[in-house]
Amino acid sequence: MENWQSRFAFLMAAIGSAVGLGNIWRFPYVCYKNGGGAFLIPYFVALFTVGIPLLIAEYSVGSIFRKSSPIAMRKISKKVEWVGWWGVFSAFFISIYYCTLMAWCLCYLFHSFGLIWQPDAGNFFFNKFLGITSSPSIIGKINIQILFALLFIWTSIFLILYKGVKSIGKVVAITVPLPTILLLILTIRGLTLPGSSTGLEFYLSPDFSKLAMPSVWLSAYAQIFFSLSLAQGIMIVYASFLKKGSDITNNAFITALADGGTAFMAGFAVFSVLGYLAYQTGLPMNEIARGGIGLAFITYPTAISKMPFMPSFFGIIFFLALLTFGIDSAFSMVEAITNGIKDKFNISREKATFIICLIGFLIGIILTGGGGIYWIEITDHFISNFALVFIGLLECLIFGYIFGGEKIRKYANEVSEIKIGRWWKFMLKIFSPIALISIAFASLIELLTEGYENYPSWSLGVGTFIQTFPELSVKK
Ligand code: TRP
Repeated sequence: MENWQSRFAFLMAAIGSAVGLGNIWRFPYVCYKNGGGAFLIPYFVALFTVGIPLLIAEYSVGSIFRKSSPIAMRKISKKVEWVGWWGVFSAFFISIYYCTLMAWCLCYLFHSFGLIWQPDAGNFFFNKFLGITSSPSIIGKINIQILFALLFIWTSIFLILYKGVKSIGKVVAITVPLPTILLLILTIRGLTLPGSSTGLEFYLSPDFSKLAMPSVWLSAYAQIFFSLSLAQGIMIVYASFLKKGSDITNNAFITALADGGTAFMAGFAVFSVLGYLAYQTGLPMNEIARGGIGLAFITYPTAISKMPFMPSFFGIIFFLALLTFGIDSAFSMVEAITNGIKDKFNISREKATFIICLIGFLIGIILTGGGGIYWIEITDHFISNFALVFIGLLECLIFGYIFGGEKIRKYANEVSEIKIGRWWKFMLKIFSPIALISIAFASLIELLTEGYENYPSWSLGVGTFIQTFPELSVKK
């Protein structure tokens, strides 16, 4: 039976999975769009009403059954095994595009030496680096540089995972603290640049009127839900390696707070630098502020090349931080599926890991072409907005009603330092399902309304994408 070598190893792995690209490029943007400092209220409410309760449930189920998510589900009831599979397959699909994003980060790490995205980082990214095609149906030329970076990422994942959780424990002891320190350096650098206060004001100035908008609350719930890597069998499989009698509840609180704390700090690193860019270019903040791919590969690099002192160094730090924050999220997703396959087909861990990494790499090759970015946006949109939310909902119902919320609560209270009251059962069985249904509903309405504009309805992802990157539609 495999076990984590220590509580620290488990915590680092779980935090490493939770903290990822989402914390750096999603949270700060979501926060500023939804009321700035005031957004912290719905964010923390979501953390305590859905994030932590579900995390406690996943940790408990993992450590009760000591199996990957599909097998744990089968033990709860044969009829729900497919929910577990659905979760781990979603994790697998996410890991495919997540690794491509990391391959881009790796390339940009090297580009930082010469700051070669100058003078126009947007043009460099879309045309020279990606060689973007005019539509997702055109794969375009495979970029050899990205292809090799992708091979490197998948090989690293294989090497980290095939020996088992002991080696994961060793890796996360470095890849979780290191980027946190790098982020701190970037934050300090950002705060000491002229104009940084404008950026921070933009990020945090509270707009309490936004708290009356349901969409703001939904954004908070969605952010918590994705950021904690819930509903993909990841936290279940990680908890299955806990020694019998390990703490559950306190670990869930620590994971969740570390995740939120990193996201909040990333906002300082990002917005202080955006403030500096506004100061340098004279553009207003709302034209500069954005999240996602554009932030990491266009806006931030632009700001870096304008830095007065050692710009290459800060470029390297930024992309190294993204890479090391991302890698533990990426291999946690792969770990979820390989364990499912290993348990189900009774093959060795090495074999399962090799097969999955190979398939992941081969499918990922398609994404290294000029049409890849469209598919990344489309997959991300559909998996995160629909699949994961739906699986999360099913999980609440399965754990709360079929397996029994009370059983989980009893187990968690037996082993944990912090005891949970009846509120937890209410959150799992009633509140969380309602919150998740609302997120799904809101996304559906968005799909229906936005899907009709100019774009064929299947390509909502493309629509969202073009709205996110208006310069793309202008340039082409
Ligand atoms: N939680 C990690 C992050 O915030 C990675 C992650 C896991 C993820 N599953 C996801 C990100 C689904 C987006 C969607 O980056």
